[in-house]
Amino acid sequence: MSIISKDISKAIQLLTAEDIVAIPTETVYGLAGNIYSEKAIKAIFETKKRPFFNPLIVHIPSIDKLSNIVEYIPKKAQLLAEAFWPGPITLVLKKKAIIPDLITGGKDTVAVRVPNHPTTIELLKQLNFPLAAPSANPFSSISPTTAAHVETYFKNTIKMVLDGGACTSGIESTIIGFENDNPIIYRLGSTALEDIEAIVGKIEIKNMATERSQNNKEISPDAPGMLERHYAPKTTTILTDNIPNTLDKYKEKRVGLITFQSQIENNAIEVQIALSKSGDLAESASKLYDVLHQLDKMHLDVIIAEKFPDHGLGKSINDRLTRATKN
Ligand code: TXA
Ligand code: MG
Repeated sequence: MSIISKDISKAIQLLTAEDIVAIPTETVYGLAGNIYSEKAIKAIFETKKRPFFNPLIVHIPSIDKLSNIVEYIPKKAQLLAEAFWPGPITLVLKKKAIIPDLITGGKDTVAVRVPNHPTTIELLKQLNFPLAAPSANPFSSISPTTAAHVETYFKNTIKMVLDGGACTSGIESTIIGFENDNPIIYRLGSTALEDIEAIVGKIEIKNMATERSQNNKEISPDAPGMLERHYAPKTTTILTDNIPNTLDKYKEKRVGLITFQSQIENNAIEVQIALSKSGDLAESASKLYDVLHQLDKMHLDVIIAEKFPDHGLGKSINDRLTRATKN
């Protein structure tokens, strides 16, 4: 029997009983549990096979609940929350003592956001606790953007996916931390860098993967989830700004090609998908993971992806494609 259901009251029942439920958001589906239930939070980590040091995002129904979760709200954090919530921005702020260490990986900060999905906002309003929810995929795999993606991953391990349709943004939230009250981007995502800078001015991007190799540390202290290999298909994936050259190297192979807009004529290509024929970056972002899921099922020899324009959501798409190519 399918675990996919639209029944919010069933989700409430399970979550209240300290069980976990996959929930829709505008970015990707999350694997959710009561932030105050040790049982539920442990089940999230175990189901995902995610290391405990990698902290979770807390989801709240509205901006006025933020002060229940965090100790202090810097001015620029307030501005960002007002500008983008409900929506795909996560703020990392000093946590209140009540937030369990299990949620934050022992850190004194907590990641929090108001998701922009009517079903999940309704769910959060009816619960009397916030939901911790990492993306509903096994650690390092491609994030799910439909209920069916989640079911494929977890049909034997969770009881329910709350169906909210296909995610409209399609890549994870942009994560913003604060150092001396100044915002810093920890993860590029569904809110474009330029839109954030329009609110708070020029903002630094901390490339956690680079820091990690420079310091030769296993994890970065600031955003331990920003491991280099992430969002990755099982099929070898290559990111290129020169499609003809790259195709030349894989003449004898079964190739899946992902482009931004163009259609390429080449016999080596078994399947090709243009993410937006009209050149719309938001449309491309919304389709990216679903296309990766589709191509990954085809047992191709290689997935070749075209580099996107390096601005707006193109920057975030390139970030995910780069991580998908690490092995
Ligand atoms: O769009 C999203 O953000 C989705 C939906 C479900 O809301 N969630 C999501 O969660 O992408 P997850 O767990 O896959 O990614 C959360 C990231 C991780 O990289 C984690 O390391 C980082 O947030 N994070 C969480 N708490 C943090 C903290 N206190 N300091 C720094 N990074 C933190
Ligand atoms: Mg994730």
